[in-house]
Amino acid sequence: MIFETLSRRFYIMLDIKIELTKCPKEKPTDESKLGFGKLFSDHMFVMDYTEGQGWHDPRIIPYQPFSLDPATVVFHYAQEIFEGMKAYRTAEDKILLFRPDCNARRLNDSADRLCIPNIPEEDFIQAVSTLVSVERDWVPHSADTSLYIRPYIFATDVGLGVHASKHYIFSIICSPSGAYYAEGIDPVRIYVEDEYIRAAPGLTGFTKCGGNYAASIKAGELAEEQGFAQVLWLDGVEKKYVEEVGSMNIMFKIDGKIYTAATVGTVLPGVTRRSCIELCKDWGYEVIEGKLAIADIMAAAKEGKLEEVFGTGTAAVVSPVKELKWKDETAYIGDGKIGPLTQKLYDTLTGIQWGKLPDDKGWTVEVK
Ligand code: COI
Repeated sequence: MIFETLSRRFYIMLDIKIELTKCPKEKPTDESKLGFGKLFSDHMFVMDYTEGQGWHDPRIIPYQPFSLDPATVVFHYAQEIFEGMKAYRTAEDKILLFRPDCNARRLNDSADRLCIPNIPEEDFIQAVSTLVSVERDWVPHSADTSLYIRPYIFATDVGLGVHASKHYIFSIICSPSGAYYAEGIDPVRIYVEDEYIRAAPGLTGFTKCGGNYAASIKAGELAEEQGFAQVLWLDGVEKKYVEEVGSMNIMFKIDGKIYTAATVGTVLPGVTRRSCIELCKDWGYEVIEGKLAIADIMAAAKEGKLEEVFGTGTAAVVSPVKELKWKDETAYIGDGKIGPLTQKLYDTLTGIQWGKLPDDKGWTVEVK
């Protein structure tokens, strides 16, 4: 919470009440079987919003279901947003968050578009850090595992009129997780979607709202039936330019340069995307954020210039792509194995996140 006077800005920390569970769950013994987002920790964070009163009653309580009226706005009109973050355990048993300020800002950008009240960045970071601190024993120990953190806000007014709700719940849950894809860091096959679209100018493509993902499920299911891990979305107007993949942003290394869609309203501004761009630039690569036609990518593949393709996302980390199928054309990337830049990005990013490499950029925040 922030108070401003004429000359000073005061930050008052949230007074988070903590109620610990009396029935702690068994922690997973075999961390190689964690999968992604299947198992949840003992506690959750909850805070309520009431118009006129603002956010109130921040609390950490035992993980439990919500009791909601069947006419609650979120069930009918999907006024909901979320974030994805991770907590990492270092070899010294420190627990680190990665760029939580970026998630705090993006949540508020999503909130603005969905008419949901903002959460002050400091409050968001305090809520995440306090919950992770309570759940620190749930941060897994094995390589390539982490505690996936899911902050989300949903509308809780009761009634069937379409309007911005006057009541909301902000909650955070945690899930000890392994790799997002069953393939792990093995390269995946991607289907370029040319019928359905994910976003169009003026819509919600840049936000992390549940509705974006709901609208993507059909195409994802059809692609999966054909053995593809995810779909690559083209722009919603001309179906010509690449935008993003189901759960991640996507980058192409063509003839030594890195290309990715600009985040101009229809593409999610990914925290991993942004971090990879910064690293690539540090390493001397030219990174072009703009319009890249799928036809040019397929042509580059034919000319042997499509060197690497990889997705970036919190859940997916850095995920190599070995094949792109668009209409009746297929591009095979490299020799089907993870490329050197993709591997270097994966190693550097995860090295910083797990505290194995120095964090020269100050990206990590320790949870005490
Ligand atoms: C994330 O990468 O954190 C996401 O939110 C993507 C999600 C669909 C798994």
